Order: sequence, then C-alpha cells, then structure tokens
Amino acid sequence: KVHRLAVIRGDGIGPEVIDASLEVLAAAQSEFGFRAELTEISAGARHYLATGELWTPALQDQLRGQDAILFGAMGDPAVAPGILERGFILEMRRSFQQAVNLRPVKLYPGVTTPIAGLTPERCDLVIVRENTEGSYVGRGSTVHAGTPHAVAVQESVNTRMGVERVVEFAFRLAERRGGTLTLCHKKNILVEAGILWQSTVDDVSVRFPTVPVDYVHVDALCFYLPTTPERFNVVVTDNLFGDIITDLGAAVQGGLGVAASANLNLDGSGPSMFEAIHGSAPDIAGRGWANPIGAVLSTAMCLAHLGEGAAARAVEAAAVHILAQLPATAGPGMGLSTAQLGREIASLVQSN
Ligand code: NAI
Ligand code: MG
Repeated sequence: KVHRLAVIRGDGIGPEVIDASLEVLAAAQSEFGFRAELTEISAGARHYLATGELWTPALQDQLRGQDAILFGAMGDPAVAPGILERGFILEMRRSFQQAVNLRPVKLYPGVTTPIAGLTPERCDLVIVRENTEGSYVGRGSTVHAGTPHAVAVQESVNTRMGVERVVEFAFRLAERRGGTLTLCHKKNILVEAGILWQSTVDDVSVRFPTVPVDYVHVDALCFYLPTTPERFNVVVTDNLFGDIITDLGAAVQGGLGVAASANLNLDGSGPSMFEAIHGSAPDIAGRGWANPIGAVLSTAMCLAHLGEGAAARAVEAAAVHILAQLPATAGPGMGLSTAQLGREIASLVQSN
C-alpha cells in the first residue's frame, strides 16, 4: 500500500523533530510493508521572510491530493505573532475542513508530571476540539478604536453542522473506548452557543445509547483535569476552550515534549494534518535538544489514520519505551540527542 505524505518541516526545532519522525517512519515501512511517498513542502517563517508567501492557492492544490500532512512547527522571532497562525495554520484547517483537533492526554509510565501522586492509570483521556469555528473565525469589529470609548466585539460562530460533525466523532470515539462523553462549555453564561452545543449532544446521544453523557463547565474542568483526570474519557468542546484545556492537558501529561495531535478532515475534502503541539522553540533550535517524542507520537496517529494500525501501535510502543528511560522530557539533561532518539525508536520499531 502506498501513502502520499506531505512533509512540512517549518522552522526552528520543526525540521529536527520531523527528521527523527521520518527515521521512525522509514523503519515502520520496512517492518510493516507499506510505502510512504514523501513530498517536501517549503513553508513557515523563513519561507515567508524569503518569499512573502503564506498559504497560497498553488500550495492548496498541491496538498489536496495528499493522503496526510506531517507538520513540524512554524515560527520565528522575526515574524510578528499571528501572521503564520492566521495566514497559514488557520487557512489550512479551514481549506481542508480539518474539523476535529484531536489531542490525547495520556500520562505515560516514567514521565514526570507536575501533579503529585498522579499515576498513568488515572490519566488517559482524549480531547476533541472543534477546529474551524467558534471565536477563531476572525469575525468582529471595533468602533472608536484608539479612543477612551473604544469597543471591540469578537464574535463566536457556532453552526449546527459544524458542531454536530465534531460531537458525532466524539461519540464514536467514546463508544470505541468504552467511556463517557463529556461536553465542556460555559453554557450558563454563553447561552446561545451553549444551547446549540448541549442540544446537539442530547440529539446525537440518542444514536449512541451505550455512551454515558456528562457536562462540565470549562472553569470547573480546569480544576478537575489536573486533580481527577480519571473523571474524563472523551471530552468534546469548542475551538477556544479546546485550545486552552489541551495546553493544560499537555502540562498534566508531562509537557510539550510528549504531547501529540491530529487535525482531522472528516469528509474527504482534503488531507488531515498531524503535529506535535509544541512550537518552533527558537531558544533551543540547532542544539539537538528537542524532544522528538511528541512528533513521533503524532506520526503514530497519522499511521493509524492511514489504516496502518499495527505500525501505529508499534511506533507508539517504541516511543513510550524510550520515553520511560529519559531522565527529563527535554534539554541538555535528556542524555541523547534528537537524532539519536529517532534512531533508538526506529531500531525498536524494527526489532518489534
Ligand atoms: P514553544 O513550544 O516553541 O516553546 C516553549 C518552551 O518549551 C521553550 O522553552 C522550548 O524550548 C520548550 N520546548 C518546546 N518544545 C520542545 C521539545 N520538543 N523539546 C524540548 N523543549 C521544547 O512555544 P513558544 O516559545 O511560545 O513559541 C515559539 C515559536 O513557535 C513562536 O514563533 C510561536 O508562534 C510558534 N508556535 C508554533 C506552533 C505551531 O507551529 N503549531 C505552536 C506553538 C507555537
Ligand atoms: Mg494552543
């Protein structure tokens, strides 16, 4: 089986963690008998500074035919905040209708978590974040800007169709995992959106009679997630709440070096995209200190998405095995360089 994979290395440690991931991918190919046909895409802060290009129609056409996208990270101190996020990442999610942002929050054995006494058995949940709507649509306006009377309105757009596809995905996931589906919102205050989300969950739940349903306000969830993560199995939430609680989740599971994510297209209109949740980390770029585990686990999610389940499980198991031996999640104390870690994981995959 041949899979067409676009690779966007990006900036800073992006290329470093992607190189390690590709090493692991190569091992998985020879071991599990599929072929990944890679297409390198030049994009990110450096590309933008050199060419002025962000998300272009030509790039969109080129990527549309791919089966998936592996993404490193984008960002550079020389590019103003927001340019790449709005000009590239949000455009990609919207163009390819990557409706679900999927982030597992799993504490792996041997990983240092800031939550005292937390054990891996108690922390294994998945956050399903709506990825194309909400406050991220860029709708709003300001009157009397720059005066003492300035008023800024920032709208949140929630459509029944957009909410339903994400909620349905979350229910299917909860059914497969044999767990509860928790809606996270702030429906007591954000009443319009809250009613739409809750009624969608209520309606869809009829089709999933075996899945228990729960509701938690987003502020309460910020208390429960670090203290009693065992309360959650699948959490579904809107774009902004999801952005915030997934970073909290990353902290609980031991940090940016570990956390993985998928941006999933559900209707076949474009490829899905897989990335570690960390950024380009310019402060450590070029030193071999970047922890590639988050990127490798994202690659495993990509393999699962492509139907290579056995390869995905082998890559995850290998990454988790190595992770347990790392003294710290990142940095000079890690013991092995980014490239060495890639090779170690790759050889474990091969001896699988
Ligand atoms: P960051 O995630 O790049 O770094 C935060 C801190 O964590 C830094 O001290 C960094 O050294 C460390 N760190 C991150 N990933 C690591 C890894 N794999 N191994 C070891 N240490 C790691 O976030 P920051 O500093 O806020 O942003 C840096 C740049 O990345 C900015 O330009 C930002 O816009 C961009 N960014 C891009 C993202 C993306 O491409 N999806 C996501 C987040 C930030
Ligand atoms: Mg974020």
